Amino acid sequence: MPTPIWMSPETTSVNRLPMLNIGHLMTISLDGDWNFQLLDRPDQEPSKRWQSIPVPGLWTMINGQQPFGDKPIYTNVQMPFEQLPPTVPQENPTGIYEREFSLPTSWKNKRVVLSLGGFESVAILSINGREVGVAKDSRLASEFDITDFLNGGSNRVQIKVIKWSDSTFIEDQDQWWHGGITRSVKLFATENVFIERLYATPGLEANNRTGTLLVRAHINSINEADISHYKLRVRVLTIKSADKTATVINREKPQWTEKSAEEKKAGDEFFLGNYWDGSMPKAKFEAYLATEPTIPGPLEIELKVPGISPWSAETPTLYDVEYELIDPSGQVIEVTSQKIGFRRVEIKGNQLLVNGQPIIIYGINRHDFNRETGRVLTRDLMRQDLLELKRWNFNAVRTSHYPNDPAFLDLCDELGFYVVGEANIESHAFQNTLCNDQKYLNAWVDRVARMVQRDIHHPSVILWSLGNESGAGLNHRAAAAYARNFDPSRPLHYEGAIRGNWTANFDLTDVVCPMYPDISALISYAKSKKALRPLIMCEYTHAMGNSNGTLAEYWEAIHTLPGLQGGFIWEMWDHGLNQTLEDGTVRSAYGGDYGETKHDGNFVCDGMFFPDRSPKPALQEFKYLASPIVITGKNLKSGKFEIFNKNFFADLRDMKLRYEVSSNGKVLSTGDVKLPAVKPRKKALFSIPAAALKNDGVGDRFVNFSLILAASTPWAHLGHEVAWQQIVLPSKPLPKAKPAKKAQEYVSSEGLIVLPFGEVAPKLTLWRAPTDNDSIGHISEKWDNWGLRNLLRASSTISKRNGTTKITHTWKTEKGISIKHIQVVESVESGLRVTDEVILPKQLDDVARVGINFELNGGLDQFTYFGTGPSETMPDRSIGKVARWSSSVAEQYIPYVKPQENGGHMGVRWFTLTNQTNRGLYFQLDKPRMVTVTPMRSTDLADATHNVFVQPSGNTVVTIDAIQRGVGTASCGPDTLVKYKIKPGTYKWSWTVLTF
Ligand code: GAL
Ligand code: MG
Repeated sequence: MPTPIWMSPETTSVNRLPMLNIGHLMTISLDGDWNFQLLDRPDQEPSKRWQSIPVPGLWTMINGQQPFGDKPIYTNVQMPFEQLPPTVPQENPTGIYEREFSLPTSWKNKRVVLSLGGFESVAILSINGREVGVAKDSRLASEFDITDFLNGGSNRVQIKVIKWSDSTFIEDQDQWWHGGITRSVKLFATENVFIERLYATPGLEANNRTGTLLVRAHINSINEADISHYKLRVRVLTIKSADKTATVINREKPQWTEKSAEEKKAGDEFFLGNYWDGSMPKAKFEAYLATEPTIPGPLEIELKVPGISPWSAETPTLYDVEYELIDPSGQVIEVTSQKIGFRRVEIKGNQLLVNGQPIIIYGINRHDFNRETGRVLTRDLMRQDLLELKRWNFNAVRTSHYPNDPAFLDLCDELGFYVVGEANIESHAFQNTLCNDQKYLNAWVDRVARMVQRDIHHPSVILWSLGNESGAGLNHRAAAAYARNFDPSRPLHYEGAIRGNWTANFDLTDVVCPMYPDISALISYAKSKKALRPLIMCEYTHAMGNSNGTLAEYWEAIHTLPGLQGGFIWEMWDHGLNQTLEDGTVRSAYGGDYGETKHDGNFVCDGMFFPDRSPKPALQEFKYLASPIVITGKNLKSGKFEIFNKNFFADLRDMKLRYEVSSNGKVLSTGDVKLPAVKPRKKALFSIPAAALKNDGVGDRFVNFSLILAASTPWAHLGHEVAWQQIVLPSKPLPKAKPAKKAQEYVSSEGLIVLPFGEVAPKLTLWRAPTDNDSIGHISEKWDNWGLRNLLRASSTISKRNGTTKITHTWKTEKGISIKHIQVVESVESGLRVTDEVILPKQLDDVARVGINFELNGGLDQFTYFGTGPSETMPDRSIGKVARWSSSVAEQYIPYVKPQENGGHMGVRWFTLTNQTNRGLYFQLDKPRMVTVTPMRSTDLADATHNVFVQPSGNTVVTIDAIQRGVGTASCGPDTLVKYKIKPGTYKWSWTVLTF
């Protein structure tokens, strides 16, 4: 038996047409409901029992359901089965998609092509029962000429999709395994002579005003139609349109023995080495060329377009290009168009330049993801996603880890994003072998080549990526050589080339694009003499759960060291799939939730956005760091400030700047700033009325600046806040609570503080519900070993002096480690003040927090605080506007897919908790501290597997931390910095509680 095609990596396709990415006037969509059946194996005969399936549609994920039985599987590096490449299991789910179609009469005598947008992982196409061809490479369209397979009337198309194949081993990306058709299926028609390939490369000359366009096309025909003298016309529509035409020339030349003496001479001039030094005159070279036969069809046209506005992510100016195929009689037989932008990408020294500027990449990694359909997306959804990224100040996307739908790049061109276009190659489980395996050579080259061909005209694409996590081998070298030669206008990106050694493999990557480097490594690279290439992190700051610690320190390095040009956050989505349980609960499913035994748990939920596409708190920090401006105080007394425009191409003309002066969170005055013209990368001075800055009132004072859109854009409305900044003003402290006229006792005989509205007395806590970083990074393992989760009060002694009560506790961890804790309780007017002092023993050298935790009556369900917000902040992700923020206590809960510590706020000066009758408690802190107020207990968070299973305690749970540990990003990457870890020693803090 011959090896089946789905286990033959050498064969990447059968009968597939060359890559072409243009629109066609005659197009029919075949999307919609198809007949479907799922077989257990590819060689099984289909039965007569058909069901229905949407196309595009994955049989593993139809509206959050698995109606055909086969389920999603999540594995990261490991393969979902044991076989070695290229062998796959015999039990291999195979979907048969079938439908009828008929063609309009106007398509009679036309050439008809079927285009299959995406499928996982092998597709075999048949028309009317006859096999047309085979396609691999799940993320680029495969097109087949079906003209000869068609009947006059109704036709039947069958697409057989085989889930596991030789391709599976090079599509081992860290995401769900699905099966089925992911992108649209359509038909288009052309005349018998047609544009078969069209590759347009836009460029920009050094003057930044003259655009260039190199068009390489190929005209072809069927039915032996003669193509000579057909013309291709290319027109760039600008005020002064650029326009050129090239003609197909069919030169049938005599063969060697038939050449005339003259022809032989012309050939010999070239052949015999007389001009070995390259000095052959052009005319002679052309005379020689004229003696050689050529294939008719390939055409090259180069255009210059003066007076254009360049494209950049900040200024995404696009131009229309029109193409016409004209027959020898002068009749236009095919028209199509593209949108292009003129821009130049180059590497000079250790900088990547776009239009001459060392741009900064505020990027994110994006997978195709939808919690109800797996990865079947609509154009509208992709657009919404990009608009959302714009609103958070992202300017770049890495299409991790495969080419996206062509519509996605159209949108990036239009809205302004820099794109790393990545080839669909990841052999992670066998990353150091398959890249040198000859059987896979074709696949490597094919996948890179077809991607470059498809996307070459997109200005948004500034780098080609050879794929992800596949080692660095011979196959990469072949693919890199193709990409470099076919498209010299873009540098290469490939992380596998520099893994472990940032100075290696210059042939495979032009940028050093490490994943998850330590900040110290970035700094040492940037400062070293070996920094010969720009550094752009292909992945960094793993957004799994409550994460992204030390983001500000990454950006401090990037913003200050030349050669560091940003990076792409890992990643956009938590890939939690909608899963309805028997009792009707819908949870975000992750690895193992569909009964898979081999899986990687919730590692698939590591995005900046929740599965429902709502933003996670860490975006607040990112947006601030990626702000287009920086404001500094120059002279606070006279109201002088300086603004720096971080943009490289856009001025701030479309923005307005507002100021607001606040004291203790109350806004005292606001106004518009008269913003001077601030050119890109330039600074300018401005002022606000000095009177507004006069010091009155008590509590922390700030001047808050807010940069807002002066007019609506495609991505946000007028008034949208693009950036904000707070500058601290000199302040007077808040008054302290007065001593009580009549002292009250707040300490019970057992040594517990009795708080007003108290349900559970304040107790020491050194623990938090482990974040994903804490657990995967083996940090919480230490807490378990020390027994930190429950501290037991071994003894408490009470002593009283001068109206204060001092309680000295000894706490014991579950493993018997003792901790001394002193609480001094004073009665004040309307309440009490507590001063805590904790002596953390040497042994406990990396606890989660040192804090005091208590529970209040759940009726206190409204929370107002003066501190950072509005979203959660953490010690090493602490950026948030310091203001008065209010919400219900319930809204403080952040629904991380796998529950973990959440909802805290750094920099809290005071907070109130109120009930429905507006009575409650006011807490004043000795200095800005981290406070967490939530209905959930940390222990309940830690014990729950999915957020929908966490039960609120019924109380309002409050934790006031003297200090909490940073979150870092150790689930994949570095832990937090030493300065955010908690050292043994003495911690002292105090808080005052007043009733109102
Ligand atoms: C990288 C990889 C990504 C993802 C990430 C962890 O190693 O390129 O695909 O697995 O780590 O979430
Ligand atoms: Mg991987």
